[in-house]
Amino acid sequence: AAGKLWGGRFTGGTDPIMVQYNESIYFDRVFYSQDIRGSISYARANTKTGLLTEREFAEIERGFKQVLKEWQDGVFDIKPGIDEDIHTANERRLGEIIGKEIAGKLHTGRSRNDQVATDMRLWLRDQLEQLESYLIAFLKVIAARAEKEIEHVMPGYTHLQRAQPIRWSHWMLLYGSFFASDLERLREVRARINKSPLGCGALAGNPFNIDREAIAKELGFDGLIMNSMAGVGDRDFVVETMQWGTMLMTHLSRWAEDLIIYSTGEFSFVKLADTYSTGSSLMPQKKNPDSLELIRGKSGRAFGHMTGLMMSIKGIPSTYNKDLQESVEPLLDHIKTVGDSVQIATGVLSTLNILPENMLKSLSPDMLATDLADYLVRKGVPFRETHHISGRVVALAENEGKPMDTLTFEQLQGVDNRFEKDVLGVFDYQKSVEMRSAKGGTSRGAVLEQIEAIKKTLAAN
Ligand code: ARG
Repeated sequence: AAGKLWGGRFTGGTDPIMVQYNESIYFDRVFYSQDIRGSISYARANTKTGLLTEREFAEIERGFKQVLKEWQDGVFDIKPGIDEDIHTANERRLGEIIGKEIAGKLHTGRSRNDQVATDMRLWLRDQLEQLESYLIAFLKVIAARAEKEIEHVMPGYTHLQRAQPIRWSHWMLLYGSFFASDLERLREVRARINKSPLGCGALAGNPFNIDREAIAKELGFDGLIMNSMAGVGDRDFVVETMQWGTMLMTHLSRWAEDLIIYSTGEFSFVKLADTYSTGSSLMPQKKNPDSLELIRGKSGRAFGHMTGLMMSIKGIPSTYNKDLQESVEPLLDHIKTVGDSVQIATGVLSTLNILPENMLKSLSPDMLATDLADYLVRKGVPFRETHHISGRVVALAENEGKPMDTLTFEQLQGVDNRFEKDVLGVFDYQKSVEMRSAKGGTSRGAVLEQIEAIKKTLAAN
């Protein structure tokens, strides 16, 4: 343990497997720039407390600029067994460049506990900004298609049984509303992440009266994590991010499942572009919706990372414990999975071919049974009664072995004499969707209003 930052009290060596088990450099190096940025701000604040001279600070800043460049150029030389994590690696290299005399002053009053929490928050807020842009791009495709393809009518399902006609756009906007909520939640989560833990020290706070607010401001944080023990021991921001991402992935998964069903030969409502499909090594005719299946599958993985971390932290005592290092890898994978999935979904939707004639062919007149009942409601008959009357019409058509809309006016009158000549006008799918004109319904006007609502969410920030 001699070469270690914390080696002073140690005499024995570390088990080589323990070294590996403990080190995080091979994944937390993604925080290299955040770590350097945080360190420079911390050093600047320490020139105000008098712990560093202006000249020493200039040296630290100069040294870190070189370290940053080495990372960016891909030439940073990680020392296996020495560079335990990104914090030790950066400090070790800084010492080599500017000398240990000055570099050794940097960590005064600071701990890797407040350091790693700072790095993660800085990194995550940038990632969420990127994810926000992906989500916005996806929602724009949804809104644009919904507007352009508003004509097309398809079967709407409950229990995956044909239920009532809807606009194809209405289906797209159902997910649009889910994803718009995901976007709103993302902005809320980001606001909670963007608070500074720097200056919390190991757990009890900073003994040199460092100006935490100045550091936070310089790093672009909107305020502080106030309690120092909370600052170092909190990974709720990671859990919350993954809860957000899991909910988004759940929406994407259901969306993908719908499209997988709609793309089967039996449905044939949509056809996936070749770009997002793959073939079979054995069956020449196959074109498989792998992109959608992967979205569905990866949602499980995103969920797993979230629950895994919740299990890891639920029983640990307060403040920093090494268990918290286990929050990093799931987070990295989770963010990548969510980002990739939203981008793939955007690609799938923007290249998707629809087959409106098949949607139309899949509509059946019995899907208008509710409309038939509503017709009599408009004539003043109580719905509970009209439901039965319409049911008898469905049964009659079934017994006759012909579609409901081919029954004659006389046959309908035979079921109930309150049917009048205009009843035949009920059997019209376009008319049926236009009837649903109350807010949030599937009529043209109600659909256009939903598109406007999504556009409003996109613009808000
Ligand atoms: N690599 C550690 C992590 O990711 C940094 C903090 C280590 N602190 C400590 N006292 N061992 O959590």
